[in-house]
Amino acid sequence: MAFKFGQILCLLFLAKTFATDAEIETLDFDFFESLQNEPDKVVKDLQSSDPDIQLKAIVEVQTLFKQKEYLDEFVENEHLPILIKCLNSENTTIQLEAIKALSEIVISSVRNVKEVVREKAVPHFIRLYHSSNSSISAQSIRTIGNIILKDSRLRASILKLGLLDHLIEEPIESFEVLNETVRVMLILTLDKDHPLPQDVVERLVPVFEVLLLHSNFDIVKYATWAFQLLTAADNSRHNIFFDKDTIKLLINLINHREPEIQSAAIGVITNVVNKKNEQSKMVMDYGILKVLPKLLMHENDETVKNALTLLTNLFDVSYSKTTLIFDKEIIPLIILHLSRVTNDEVQEEAANAITSATKFSNPEQISYMIDMNIINAIY
Ligand SMILES: *[C@@H]1O[C@H](CO)[C@@H](O)[C@H](O)[C@H]1NC(C)=O
Ligand SMILES: *[C@@H]1O[C@H](CO)[C@@H](O)[C@H](O)[C@H]1NC(C)=O
Ligand SMILES: *[C@@H]1O[C@H](CO)[C@@H](O)[C@H](O)[C@H]1NC(C)=O
Repeated sequence: MAFKFGQILCLLFLAKTFATDAEIETLDFDFFESLQNEPDKVVKDLQSSDPDIQLKAIVEVQTLFKQKEYLDEFVENEHLPILIKCLNSENTTIQLEAIKALSEIVISSVRNVKEVVREKAVPHFIRLYHSSNSSISAQSIRTIGNIILKDSRLRASILKLGLLDHLIEEPIESFEVLNETVRVMLILTLDKDHPLPQDVVERLVPVFEVLLLHSNFDIVKYATWAFQLLTAADNSRHNIFFDKDTIKLLINLINHREPEIQSAAIGVITNVVNKKNEQSKMVMDYGILKVLPKLLMHENDETVKNALTLLTNLFDVSYSKTTLIFDKEIIPLIILHLSRVTNDEVQEEAANAITSATKFSNPEQISYMIDMNIINAIY
């Protein structure tokens, strides 16, 4: 239920980054007409042993793919293996252009992406991921990510090819490659309906933990988003237990000035605070109560709402935790939001937090809430 917003943001972000790839340029109609007279020439040229002719054909075919009809026909007429074969070229320019052409097919439709996988393009992308040329490496792994993003049912078969070993085996020197690699690791966690196999999660978690310390925002954002998805209620069977250093880091990230990182960090903490685990104790020990008042007074309603959801979960843990929160006098801030009529969602979350607070509170605490004017706030 909680933190839909963060997930939507994450999906929007990923969708946006790949819509850029698909940006349609102005079409040159004369060019298409001339090609329509000779529809098979470009397919023939793709198989040429002359690299000049082959390269020109790969570039041409990318322009042709901007016509959806041509692209679909290309796949239907079983020309895909010809294009995939171009990935075997030793020439890096040919490799790169062939990857670009295949990425157009990958993002075009679920039907076409299935064909790309069926024709065994993925092992080629994995091989090229290890290219010493960073653009080729980055574009190859990006394309694998886009395949899984287009149809998450393909994830299992791609993992069976040993993708994870390739992703986390060796240290990555190029930032461009690291950025795309972490994006793919995040994409692996996206499908909530089919949680990742436990062994995959167990190998990913320590990698993401290290990435939380990275100096680049995008990397930290991907890692925090991945943790939010992996700890979400729909994914609760993973039962991830963070060590104290990670909890400390995540609480620090709640102060991050990037709203997306802040909201995802609140999301992870919210997800791990529950009766079943020891992490609620760590979350309290490492100072969550110190950051909460600031969050409850945040100018962004989304942040306030997220903070209230976190409090709802914290109150739900035990008598002793509830007492600690009362001692910090966070209650007046919740009541303040309860009486707000400007934002229904914030008000509703405040009501949830109060309901949760009454669950483990003693008579003294209830009368404190009444003194704080809770009754007027409700009506
Ligand atoms: C690849 O082939 C093209 C076309 O023949 C040529 O212009 C280019 O220099 C080659 N690139 C590399 C890196 O060998
Ligand atoms: C990678 O290969 C492409 C195509 O040949 C070339 O333009 C680019 O400069 C190469 N990049 C690196 C980092 O070697
Ligand atoms: C990392 O990759 C994403 C998506 O591919 C891109 O939007 C972003 O600009 C990259 N980050 C950096 C710092 O290059």
